[in-house]
Amino acid sequence: WAQDAARNDAGELTVGGIPVSELQRQYGTPLYVMSENDFRARARAFSDAFNNAFADICGGVDVYYAGKSFLCTAVVRWVEEEGLRLDTASGGELAVAAKAGIPGADVALHGNNKSDLEIHRALDMKLGRIVVDSLGELVRVGDIAERRGEKAKVMLRLTPGVHAHTHEFIATAHEDQKFGLSMAADTTEHAGLSAAEEAVAAASAHPGIDLLGLHCHIGSQIFEPDGFALAARKLLRFLAAMQEKYSIVLPELDLGGGYGIAYTPVDTPRPAAEIAEAMAAVVRSTCAELGIDSPRISIEPGRAIVGSTTFTLYEVGTLKTVRVDATASNNGDADNNVTHPRRYVSVDGGMSDNARPVLYDADYSAILASRTSAAGPQLSRVVGKHCESGDIVVRDVYLPEDVAAGDLLAVPGTGAYCWALSSNYNYLARPGVVAVRDGSARLIVRGETEEDLLNRDMGV
Ligand code: LLP
Repeated sequence: WAQDAARNDAGELTVGGIPVSELQRQYGTPLYVMSENDFRARARAFSDAFNNAFADICGGVDVYYAGKSFLCTAVVRWVEEEGLRLDTASGGELAVAAKAGIPGADVALHGNNKSDLEIHRALDMKLGRIVVDSLGELVRVGDIAERRGEKAKVMLRLTPGVHAHTHEFIATAHEDQKFGLSMAADTTEHAGLSAAEEAVAAASAHPGIDLLGLHCHIGSQIFEPDGFALAARKLLRFLAAMQEKYSIVLPELDLGGGYGIAYTPVDTPRPAAEIAEAMAAVVRSTCAELGIDSPRISIEPGRAIVGSTTFTLYEVGTLKTVRVDATASNNGDADNNVTHPRRYVSVDGGMSDNARPVLYDADYSAILASRTSAAGPQLSRVVGKHCESGDIVVRDVYLPEDVAAGDLLAVPGTGAYCWALSSNYNYLARPGVVAVRDGSARLIVRGETEEDLLNRDMGV
């Protein structure tokens, strides 16, 4: 939950002092409700924690907010005002950065398959860094910059071979996935040479490239600092080896994002300060061991900044209760046949505004937001309105027995990768995003209208 979300005396959920019924009246549902103060506070907290931990190692840390988690021009401005930078992953995200007016020097571009157009756009905007993902792309970026008579500022994304303990689809540092330059020997045509080493040598020799340093991102929604620390150690060793072998000094090291948040009470993320200290300790000791100065460190948190700032507000519609066979957990003992009721609570959105349950088996929670209730708890499953039985918003949650059509539910933790991954499945219009601050609310992204959807139909 956002820090300024709370129930008022009448029992209604409010954020920044504004009751949810007021937000529904003004903007409708479903609606993403974001606390601007909470976003700013989390951005600052992350930046402070890492800057403090690394102050004596490399003078501080550059924090790039990962825009893929949620991006619009208002958020870019908050990021800038709080002293952070911006990480983008496509030409479209660069367009948002340009529209918001953030200096290109504070922007990074990622992607495993950048188009020439995206590379030109990055150079037009004079980006602070282009994170190159493969040998082929390195040559393409270098050649384009050289033809323009420029030097592209490049980081190389390496694959440190760390297994992050998270969902398979969001783990990104093991060998067998699409991202990054392998650090394993013999991953090029040249005997014994890793793709990472070949890229360092090629980048340093290319007249269109200014090689800034190395990058890795091991995955997302990670709680334990060990994986980050291990990746940092591997990249520092590699960096020292390049210095020794080729006399190439790489002044920067980006350790990516991936810091987890609590979606339900069983999630126990570590405070930013604890993660920062653990990572700083490893960077400090590894640099000492290797006898090198620490490179300038940067990180790219997305979810940990925006995830908890937002809840999705839904209106309840249809309700139905079924009896569920509980024998599976009862060793199939027919004499001991047990069933329990499960209530399906349908809301006016679903997998189109939150694809994470269906994509990653993600768990969420929900509360009755428009009022409190003295009724007893009932095991409920919050589902959407799409034509799929997998269209689940919250798999299991206890909601008051008297929840009824017209009630408002709030699902917290929907700031990251919900609006960003939203779709128009079943021709549902994407909800808007409202930002609340100190008692006033404003739309920062308007919801789509039916007209928006029909406008794209060419009618021929
Ligand atoms: N840096 C790079 C290079 C990334 O690929 C990502 C996320 C981040 C930073 C930010 O990671 P974060 O701090 O937000 O975990 N759609 C998935 C997550 C995909 C993450 C993609 N890359 C989900 O909803 O869980």
